[in-house]
Amino acid sequence: MRILVTGATGTLGGALVPALLKAGNEVRALSRTRRESRGNVDWRWGDLISGNGLEDALDGVDAVAHLATSGRKGVGAVDIPGTRTLILFAREAGIRHLLFTSVVGTDRAAYHYLKYKLEAERLVTESGLGWTILRSTRFHQSLDQRIRDFSGLPVLPVDRSLPWQPVHTGEVAARAAELLGARPAGREIDFGGPEVITTDDLVKTWLRARGLRRPCLPVRYPGRVYAAQRAGDLTTDASPKGRITWNDYLFPPPADVSDDFASEHTASPTSPANQPEQDPDLRVYGGDEGYERPTRS
Ligand SMILES: NC(=O)c1ccc[n+]([C@@H]2O[C@H](COP(=O)([O-])OP(=O)(O)OC[C@H]3O[C@@H](n4cnc5c(N)ncnc54)[C@H](OP(=O)(O)O)[C@@H]3O)[C@@H](O)[C@H]2O)c1
Repeated sequence: MRILVTGATGTLGGALVPALLKAGNEVRALSRTRRESRGNVDWRWGDLISGNGLEDALDGVDAVAHLATSGRKGVGAVDIPGTRTLILFAREAGIRHLLFTSVVGTDRAAYHYLKYKLEAERLVTESGLGWTILRSTRFHQSLDQRIRDFSGLPVLPVDRSLPWQPVHTGEVAARAAELLGARPAGREIDFGGPEVITTDDLVKTWLRARGLRRPCLPVRYPGRVYAAQRAGDLTTDASPKGRITWNDYLFPPPADVSDDFASEHTASPTSPANQPEQDPDLRVYGGDEGYERPTRS
Protein backbone atom coordinates (compact mmCIF):
# COMPACT_ATOMS: atom_id res chain seq x y z
CA MET A 1 0.00 0.00 0.00
CA ARG A 2 1.19 3.57 -0.73
CA ILE A 3 0.65 5.85 2.27
CA LEU A 4 1.10 9.61 2.50
CA VAL A 5 2.23 10.82 5.93
CA THR A 6 1.52 14.46 6.80
CA GLY A 7 3.61 15.71 9.70
CA ALA A 8 6.30 13.22 8.69
CA THR A 9 9.05 15.47 10.10
CA GLY A 10 7.35 15.75 13.50
CA THR A 11 7.85 13.77 16.70
CA LEU A 12 5.34 11.06 15.82
CA GLY A 13 6.08 11.22 12.09
CA GLY A 14 9.70 10.33 12.79
CA ALA A 15 8.48 7.07 14.31
CA LEU A 16 5.65 6.34 11.91
CA VAL A 17 7.63 6.53 8.67
CA PRO A 18 9.98 3.64 9.59
CA ALA A 19 7.08 1.66 11.14
CA LEU A 20 5.14 1.88 7.85
CA LEU A 21 8.22 0.89 5.85
CA LYS A 22 8.80 -2.06 8.13
CA ALA A 23 5.21 -3.18 7.54
CA GLY A 24 5.99 -3.30 3.81
CA ASN A 25 4.31 -0.08 2.68
CA GLU A 26 5.52 2.53 0.23
CA VAL A 27 5.82 5.81 2.09
CA ARG A 28 5.32 9.31 0.76
CA ALA A 29 6.17 12.02 3.27
CA LEU A 30 4.87 15.59 3.23
CA SER A 31 6.80 18.62 4.44
CA ARG A 32 6.78 22.39 3.88
CA THR A 33 10.54 22.12 3.47
CA ARG A 34 11.83 20.67 0.21
CA ARG A 35 13.74 17.48 0.90
CA GLU A 36 15.54 15.07 -1.34
CA SER A 37 13.94 11.64 -1.64
CA ARG A 38 16.31 8.87 -0.75
CA GLY A 39 16.05 5.31 0.44
CA ASN A 40 12.46 4.19 0.49
CA VAL A 41 10.89 7.50 1.43
CA ASP A 42 9.43 9.66 -1.31
CA TRP A 43 9.44 13.23 0.07
CA ARG A 44 6.93 15.70 -1.37
CA TRP A 45 6.75 19.40 -0.74
CA GLY A 46 3.35 20.73 0.30
CA ASP A 47 1.44 23.05 2.59
CA LEU A 48 -1.87 21.98 4.12
CA ILE A 49 -3.07 25.53 4.65
CA SER A 50 -2.65 26.83 1.09
CA GLY A 51 -3.19 23.39 -0.47
CA ASN A 52 -0.07 23.86 -2.60
CA GLY A 53 1.55 20.56 -3.52
CA LEU A 54 -1.29 18.40 -2.23
CA GLU A 55 -2.55 17.18 -5.61
CA ASP A 56 0.91 15.93 -6.46
CA ALA A 57 1.47 14.44 -2.99
CA LEU A 58 -1.83 12.50 -3.09
CA ASP A 59 -1.52 11.21 -6.64
CA GLY A 60 -1.61 7.39 -6.63
CA VAL A 61 -1.87 7.17 -2.84
CA ASP A 62 -4.12 4.57 -1.12
CA ALA A 63 -4.20 5.95 2.42
CA VAL A 64 -3.21 9.04 4.39
CA ALA A 65 -1.83 9.21 7.91
CA HIS A 66 -2.66 12.79 8.88
CA LEU A 67 -0.38 13.82 11.75
CA ALA A 68 0.40 17.44 10.87
CA THR A 69 -0.53 19.98 13.50
CA SER A 70 0.30 23.55 14.36
CA GLY A 71 0.47 22.47 17.98
CA ARG A 72 -0.74 24.08 21.15
CA LYS A 73 0.26 27.58 20.09
CA GLY A 74 -1.02 27.37 16.53
CA VAL A 75 -4.72 28.07 17.27
CA GLY A 76 -5.80 25.15 15.11
CA ALA A 77 -4.44 26.60 11.86
CA VAL A 78 -3.35 23.23 10.55
CA ASP A 79 -5.75 21.12 12.54
CA ILE A 80 -8.92 22.76 11.18
CA PRO A 81 -8.30 24.59 7.86
CA GLY A 82 -5.44 22.24 6.99
CA THR A 83 -7.58 19.15 7.61
CA ARG A 84 -10.42 20.66 5.60
CA THR A 85 -8.10 21.30 2.64
CA LEU A 86 -6.55 17.85 2.89
CA ILE A 87 -10.00 16.23 2.81
CA LEU A 88 -10.98 18.14 -0.35
CA PHE A 89 -7.87 16.94 -2.17
CA ALA A 90 -8.14 13.42 -0.71
CA ARG A 91 -11.70 13.06 -2.04
CA GLU A 92 -10.53 14.10 -5.50
CA ALA A 93 -7.68 11.61 -5.33
CA GLY A 94 -9.99 8.74 -4.27
CA ILE A 95 -8.16 8.01 -1.00
CA ARG A 96 -9.56 4.88 0.65
CA HIS A 97 -8.45 5.44 4.25
CA LEU A 98 -7.74 8.62 6.24
CA LEU A 99 -6.17 8.04 9.65
CA PHE A 100 -6.20 11.14 11.83
CA THR A 101 -4.16 11.42 15.00
CA SER A 102 -5.81 13.15 17.92
CA VAL A 103 -5.60 13.38 21.69
CA VAL A 104 -7.27 11.28 24.41
CA GLY A 105 -9.98 13.38 26.04
CA THR A 106 -10.83 15.72 23.13
CA ASP A 107 -14.47 14.72 23.49
CA ARG A 108 -14.50 15.30 27.28
CA ALA A 109 -12.31 18.39 27.55
CA ALA A 110 -12.72 20.36 24.32
CA TYR A 111 -10.87 23.48 25.44
CA HIS A 112 -7.95 25.33 23.84
CA TYR A 113 -5.89 22.96 21.64
CA LEU A 114 -8.30 20.08 22.25
CA LYS A 115 -11.18 22.15 20.92
CA TYR A 116 -9.38 22.37 17.56
CA LYS A 117 -8.64 18.66 17.59
CA LEU A 118 -12.32 17.88 18.24
CA GLU A 119 -13.42 20.10 15.36
CA ALA A 120 -10.86 18.46 13.06
CA GLU A 121 -12.15 15.05 14.17
CA ARG A 122 -15.63 16.14 13.13
CA LEU A 123 -14.35 17.12 9.68
CA VAL A 124 -12.77 13.68 9.35
CA THR A 125 -15.88 11.77 10.45
CA GLU A 126 -18.04 13.78 8.00
CA SER A 127 -15.51 13.63 5.14
CA GLY A 128 -17.21 10.80 3.26
CA LEU A 129 -13.83 9.01 3.23
CA GLY A 130 -13.05 5.77 5.08
CA TRP A 131 -11.61 7.01 8.37
CA THR A 132 -9.98 6.05 11.65
CA ILE A 133 -9.17 8.42 14.51
CA LEU A 134 -6.31 7.41 16.79
CA ARG A 135 -6.36 9.40 20.03
CA SER A 136 -3.26 9.09 22.16
CA THR A 137 -2.07 10.41 25.50
CA ARG A 138 0.94 12.77 25.83
CA PHE A 139 4.16 11.51 24.24
CA HIS A 140 7.25 10.89 26.39
CA GLN A 141 9.25 13.20 24.17
CA SER A 142 6.76 16.02 24.50
CA LEU A 143 6.70 15.80 28.32
CA ASP A 144 10.48 15.51 28.37
CA GLN A 145 10.70 18.78 26.45
CA ARG A 146 8.05 20.45 28.63
CA ILE A 147 9.92 19.66 31.85
CA ARG A 148 13.20 20.70 30.24
CA ASP A 149 11.61 24.09 29.48
CA PHE A 150 10.84 24.52 33.18
CA SER A 151 14.11 23.12 34.45
CA GLY A 152 15.90 26.48 34.26
CA LEU A 153 13.77 27.66 37.18
CA PRO A 154 15.37 27.42 40.64
CA VAL A 155 12.13 25.87 42.02
CA LEU A 156 9.75 23.69 40.01
CA PRO A 157 6.02 24.35 40.44
CA VAL A 158 4.39 20.89 40.71
CA ASP A 159 0.67 20.15 40.81
CA ARG A 160 0.50 16.77 42.58
CA SER A 161 -3.18 16.29 41.79
CA LEU A 162 -2.70 15.67 38.06
CA PRO A 163 -2.63 12.19 36.51
CA TRP A 164 -0.39 11.66 33.44
CA GLN A 165 -0.22 8.65 31.14
CA PRO A 166 2.89 9.15 29.01
CA VAL A 167 3.19 7.01 25.91
CA HIS A 168 6.06 6.25 23.59
CA THR A 169 5.83 7.46 19.98
CA GLY A 170 7.33 4.16 18.73
CA GLU A 171 4.30 2.38 20.19
CA VAL A 172 1.78 4.96 18.94
CA ALA A 173 3.37 4.58 15.50
CA ALA A 174 3.11 0.78 15.65
CA ARG A 175 -0.59 1.07 16.54
CA ALA A 176 -1.16 3.57 13.70
CA ALA A 177 0.61 1.27 11.23
CA GLU A 178 -1.54 -1.64 12.40
CA LEU A 179 -4.74 0.39 11.95
CA LEU A 180 -3.65 1.55 8.49
CA GLY A 181 -3.10 -2.09 7.53
CA ALA A 182 -6.76 -2.84 8.32
CA ARG A 183 -10.05 -1.54 6.94
CA PRO A 184 -11.03 1.97 8.11
CA ALA A 185 -12.39 1.52 11.64
CA GLY A 186 -14.92 4.36 11.33
CA ARG A 187 -14.49 5.12 15.05
CA GLU A 188 -12.22 6.82 17.55
CA ILE A 189 -9.63 4.54 19.15
CA ASP A 190 -7.80 5.51 22.35
CA PHE A 191 -4.17 4.56 22.93
CA GLY A 192 -2.43 5.36 26.20
CA GLY A 193 0.78 4.61 28.02
CA PRO A 194 1.07 1.61 30.36
CA GLU A 195 0.65 3.50 33.65
CA VAL A 196 -0.93 6.59 35.15
CA ILE A 197 1.50 8.58 37.30
CA THR A 198 1.37 11.84 39.22
CA THR A 199 3.23 15.04 38.34
CA ASP A 200 5.44 14.32 41.33
CA ASP A 201 6.59 10.99 39.85
CA LEU A 202 6.89 12.53 36.44
CA VAL A 203 9.16 15.37 37.56
CA LYS A 204 11.21 13.48 40.16
CA THR A 205 12.03 10.64 37.76
CA TRP A 206 13.00 13.21 35.12
CA LEU A 207 15.30 15.08 37.54
CA ARG A 208 16.96 11.80 38.57
CA ALA A 209 17.47 10.77 34.92
CA ARG A 210 18.96 14.14 33.99
CA GLY A 211 21.16 14.23 37.10
CA LEU A 212 19.56 17.48 38.34
CA ARG A 213 18.30 18.62 41.74
CA ARG A 214 15.49 21.11 42.13
CA PRO A 215 13.13 21.76 45.02
CA CYS A 216 9.48 21.23 44.00
CA LEU A 217 6.87 23.73 45.10
CA PRO A 218 3.34 22.28 45.48
CA VAL A 219 0.91 24.41 43.43
CA ARG A 220 -2.43 23.99 41.69
CA TYR A 221 -2.32 24.67 37.94
CA PRO A 222 -5.28 26.84 36.90
CA GLY A 223 -7.62 26.43 33.93
CA ARG A 224 -10.26 24.12 32.48
CA VAL A 225 -7.87 21.74 30.76
CA TYR A 226 -6.04 21.01 34.03
CA ALA A 227 -9.39 20.65 35.81
CA ALA A 228 -10.43 18.06 33.22
CA GLN A 229 -7.08 16.31 33.55
CA ARG A 230 -7.47 16.28 37.36
CA ALA A 231 -10.84 14.59 36.88
CA GLY A 232 -9.17 11.85 34.78
CA ASP A 233 -10.55 13.01 31.42
CA LEU A 234 -7.16 12.90 29.67
CA THR A 235 -6.28 9.32 30.59
CA THR A 236 -7.70 6.08 29.21
CA ASP A 237 -8.27 2.44 30.23
CA ALA A 238 -8.43 1.34 26.60
CA SER A 239 -6.62 -1.78 25.53
CA PRO A 240 -4.19 -2.42 23.91
CA LYS A 241 -1.95 0.15 25.54
CA GLY A 242 1.75 0.94 25.39
CA ARG A 243 4.33 -1.05 27.38
CA ILE A 244 7.22 1.42 27.59
CA THR A 245 6.99 3.34 30.88
CA TRP A 246 8.25 6.85 31.63
CA ASN A 247 11.02 5.22 33.67
CA ASP A 248 11.95 2.95 30.71
CA TYR A 249 12.08 5.95 28.41
CA LEU A 250 14.30 7.95 30.76
CA PHE A 251 16.52 4.99 31.76
CA PRO A 252 16.82 2.84 28.63
CA PRO A 253 18.54 -0.48 29.27
CA PRO A 254 22.24 -0.55 28.40
CA ALA A 255 22.75 -1.99 24.93
CA ASP A 256 24.22 -5.46 24.92
CA VAL A 257 26.87 -4.95 22.25
CA SER A 258 27.65 -8.37 20.79
CA ASP A 259 30.23 -9.38 18.24
CA ASP A 260 27.58 -9.43 15.55
CA PHE A 261 27.16 -5.68 15.63
CA ALA A 262 25.36 -5.55 12.26
CA SER A 263 22.63 -8.02 13.14
CA GLU A 264 22.04 -6.28 16.44
CA HIS A 265 21.54 -3.03 14.63
CA THR A 266 18.77 -4.39 12.44
CA ALA A 267 16.77 -5.88 15.28
CA SER A 268 13.72 -3.62 15.10
CA PRO A 269 12.78 -0.14 13.98
CA THR A 270 12.83 1.02 17.58
CA SER A 271 16.29 -0.37 18.19
CA PRO A 272 18.48 2.56 19.22
CA ALA A 273 20.97 1.44 16.66
CA ASN A 274 18.40 1.89 13.92
CA GLN A 275 18.09 5.57 14.60
CA PRO A 276 21.04 7.36 13.12
CA GLU A 277 20.73 10.92 14.33
CA GLN A 278 21.42 12.36 10.91
CA ASP A 279 18.92 10.23 9.00
CA PRO A 280 15.37 11.48 9.54
CA ASP A 281 14.04 8.67 7.33
CA LEU A 282 15.21 6.12 9.86
CA ARG A 283 14.67 7.98 13.11
CA VAL A 284 12.11 6.37 15.36
CA TYR A 285 12.58 8.06 18.72
CA GLY A 286 12.04 11.80 18.29
CA GLY A 287 13.89 14.08 20.70
CA ASP A 288 15.46 11.29 22.66
CA GLU A 289 18.10 13.56 24.10
CA GLY A 290 20.06 11.99 26.89
CA TYR A 291 20.02 8.56 25.30
CA GLU A 292 23.48 7.06 25.09
CA ARG A 293 23.73 5.33 21.75
CA PRO A 294 25.77 2.14 21.77
CA THR A 295 29.23 2.65 20.34
CA ARG A 296 32.15 0.37 19.87
CA SER A 297 35.09 1.45 21.91
N1 LIG B 1 2.80 15.70 21.18
C1 LIG B 1 1.99 14.95 21.93
O1 LIG B 1 2.24 14.68 23.13
C2 LIG B 1 0.73 14.38 21.32
C3 LIG B 1 -0.12 13.61 22.10
C4 LIG B 1 -1.27 13.06 21.54
C5 LIG B 1 -1.56 13.27 20.20
N2 LIG B 1 -0.73 14.04 19.46
C6 LIG B 1 -1.06 14.25 18.04
O2 LIG B 1 -0.08 13.56 17.25
C7 LIG B 1 0.09 14.25 16.01
C8 LIG B 1 1.56 14.52 15.78
O3 LIG B 1 2.03 15.38 16.81
P1 LIG B 1 3.59 15.72 16.93
O4 LIG B 1 3.80 16.15 18.35
O5 LIG B 1 4.40 14.60 16.35
O6 LIG B 1 3.68 17.01 15.98
P2 LIG B 1 4.94 17.96 15.79
O7 LIG B 1 6.20 17.30 16.24
O8 LIG B 1 4.58 19.30 16.36
O9 LIG B 1 5.04 18.12 14.20
C9 LIG B 1 4.16 18.93 13.50
C10 LIG B 1 4.22 18.53 12.03
O10 LIG B 1 3.22 19.25 11.32
C11 LIG B 1 3.76 19.65 10.07
N3 LIG B 1 3.09 20.87 9.63
C12 LIG B 1 2.89 22.00 10.37
N4 LIG B 1 2.25 22.93 9.62
C13 LIG B 1 2.05 22.37 8.39
C14 LIG B 1 1.46 22.83 7.18
N5 LIG B 1 0.93 24.06 7.07
N6 LIG B 1 1.44 21.98 6.12
C15 LIG B 1 1.98 20.75 6.19
N7 LIG B 1 2.56 20.25 7.32
C16 LIG B 1 2.60 21.05 8.39
C17 LIG B 1 5.25 19.86 10.31
O11 LIG B 1 5.92 19.57 9.11
P3 LIG B 1 6.95 20.57 8.35
O12 LIG B 1 7.41 21.60 9.37
O13 LIG B 1 8.04 19.67 7.87
O14 LIG B 1 6.17 21.15 7.22
C18 LIG B 1 5.56 18.82 11.38
O15 LIG B 1 6.01 17.63 10.78
C19 LIG B 1 -0.79 15.50 16.09
O16 LIG B 1 -2.02 15.22 15.45
C20 LIG B 1 -1.01 15.69 17.59
O17 LIG B 1 -2.23 16.36 17.86
C21 LIG B 1 0.41 14.60 19.96
